Amino acid sequence: MEKQTSNHEQSTPGRLKESTPTIRWLAIAALLSISYLSYWRDSAYLASHLEQETKEFSWEQLVPSETLDWVACYEKFQCTRLSVPLDYANPNGSKAAVAVIRYPSKYPVGHEKWRGPILYNPGGPGGSGVGFLTGKGIVEGFYKVIGDDYDHVSFDPRGIAHTTPVADIFSTPAERVTWSLREGPLVNSTPDALSVLYAQSVIIGKLGEERLQDVAQHVSTAVVARDMLSITRAYGREKLLYWGFSYGTVLGITYASMFPDNVERLIVDGVVDTYNYYQAAWSNNLLDTDKILSYVFKECAASSSCPLHASTASGVEKRFWAILDSVRTNPLPVVDENNYGVLDWDMTWKALFFRLYRPFTGLPPFFAALADLEKGDGKAMYRLAKSPDTSFECKCDGKRVLPSPYNIETLLPIACSDGDDVSGEDIPALENFFEEMSKLSIFANAWMRLHTGCVGWRIRPAERYSGPFVGNTSFPLLFIGNTADPVTPLWAANKMSKGFRDAALLTQNSPGHCSLSSTSLCTAQHVRAYFRDGKLPSNGTVCETSDHIFLPDNSTGSVDVEKLSMEDRELYEAMSGLSSSFEPPRLG
Ligand SMILES: *[C@@H]1O[C@H](CO)[C@@H](O)[C@H](O)[C@H]1NC(C)=O
Ligand SMILES: *[C@@H]1O[C@H](CO)[C@@H](O)[C@H](O)[C@H]1NC(C)=O
Ligand SMILES: *[C@@H]1O[C@H](CO)[C@@H](O)[C@H](O)[C@H]1NC(C)=O
Ligand SMILES: *[C@@H]1O[C@H](CO)[C@@H](O)[C@H](O)[C@H]1NC(C)=O
Repeated sequence: MEKQTSNHEQSTPGRLKESTPTIRWLAIAALLSISYLSYWRDSAYLASHLEQETKEFSWEQLVPSETLDWVACYEKFQCTRLSVPLDYANPNGSKAAVAVIRYPSKYPVGHEKWRGPILYNPGGPGGSGVGFLTGKGIVEGFYKVIGDDYDHVSFDPRGIAHTTPVADIFSTPAERVTWSLREGPLVNSTPDALSVLYAQSVIIGKLGEERLQDVAQHVSTAVVARDMLSITRAYGREKLLYWGFSYGTVLGITYASMFPDNVERLIVDGVVDTYNYYQAAWSNNLLDTDKILSYVFKECAASSSCPLHASTASGVEKRFWAILDSVRTNPLPVVDENNYGVLDWDMTWKALFFRLYRPFTGLPPFFAALADLEKGDGKAMYRLAKSPDTSFECKCDGKRVLPSPYNIETLLPIACSDGDDVSGEDIPALENFFEEMSKLSIFANAWMRLHTGCVGWRIRPAERYSGPFVGNTSFPLLFIGNTADPVTPLWAANKMSKGFRDAALLTQNSPGHCSLSSTSLCTAQHVRAYFRDGKLPSNGTVCETSDHIFLPDNSTGSVDVEKLSMEDRELYEAMSGLSSSFEPPRLG
């Protein structure tokens, strides 16, 4: 449901840089001959177009097979399409082709030093593993933090991105965008907003039934768990190595419950209350959300570099709300070259909510924009908060354009297939639901789309695993939770860890979604030791982060890297690189 930041657009698979060597060579050859014939400006224009074309790796050219036949892709990666049963209960029936990508170990598969494939899931549901792993700086980070002797692997889950069959509800980008621009106001902004949201959910549900019935039955998390085992087996192994974030914890926990004997290492990071998820409830995610605001107000008071600095946290808080309230009463016209529109409270509020996922990188610019707004200048805030859909340009060439990651269109078919059937709920029930959730967090209004979305959804899955989420796993699981995660509260990590024999819970003392939303050398050491040496942190271990949202005046800097051992310094720098590249997944 995130549309506000431009940052995550960089990891949109369709925009990734890649090319097979041959195509790239042809592109360079073509470019040389063109620039020879034309003015510089024209050739630069053409160059950018050529680049656009070579950026799209054509997955369709790969013939799906039951073995991993790797082909060079996305510059430094290898890709393959794994053929699996569309429905595992009918292995001789139709097939699905799972798009799998790897950054290979420096040792070939089978070499005595090769340690196996680690699979990653970036969350969502609906996040593309291909888009995630090829995101700038991500795989390099995993390579350094965990090791260059593993294959680092990800895949597009059922229905998503390059895995076929696809579960796109909208058939063209224009259709998708015009729908998203009709999105109603936040549920408590107008008296009829909740009814509008409900009605829209019914529409999406009906479109799903008309357009996706055959595909959407086969995208549930249980099926994706089976696909992960299929990928592991295609490698000739029986036990999974895995690091899953956000919704990736639902996937990891489901896998561990279905296949407890097939676990070699399994980390779940940013843990969802999996029981609540499978009820399609989405009701207890926001337990810790508001703590992040208190945290940032405190940091702002301790730092004169904070744009809303005041001598006390409550002084900062006052200033903060005064500015936000002013947009509520006085929406602002903004004209900033091609960026123009009305800056209103709804969009500002949603931008704030999504920035809580990555407070260390997301909140400083937000606070700077608030300070501008205080002076009557809404340009920076408008840029932050506007939906990229407002600057949509239709290419209209009939080519499929991937839905942006983590939007409601890719989320609902998976989340609502997994969830209990809640399609009987009516508007008074939803009003009640909102009232209850509002007791947990002031951001309940930004979270209503999820449960309400499933109220409109009626397709049921062919296979569903709905618990219990317990297991005596062949290797103990590692649970990681942050003290102030906006959508996966620490409480849930604690709850879920109790179901698995000898599982450990590592707490990272930081705000933000998933451990990688800030840098912690301590977390990096534990993750590395877990994968490489099979060592679990003692249960109850707490790791500190070295990052600040606003650097306190009394601080001498973050971490004194000079004081670290060579090994720790390298690990710290690798982790710092990884966390600065990491775009926390949009749960919901
Ligand atoms: C699938 O096909 C194989 C070989 O053709 C056969 O041995 C097997 O019994 C079939 N399985 C089912 C469930 O029909
Ligand atoms: C795990 O093992 C314990 C004792 O060996 C047993 O009581 C328990 O039922 C097992 N749990 C599961 C989920 O198999
Ligand atoms: C791990 O520690 C947490 C508190 O930090 C506790 O609530 C939980 O019960 C412990 N789990 C186990 C398996 O000991
Ligand atoms: C800086 O000040 C904060 C409180 O304002 C305090 O908690 C912290 O320990 C201080 N740090 C140093 C390095 O003095």
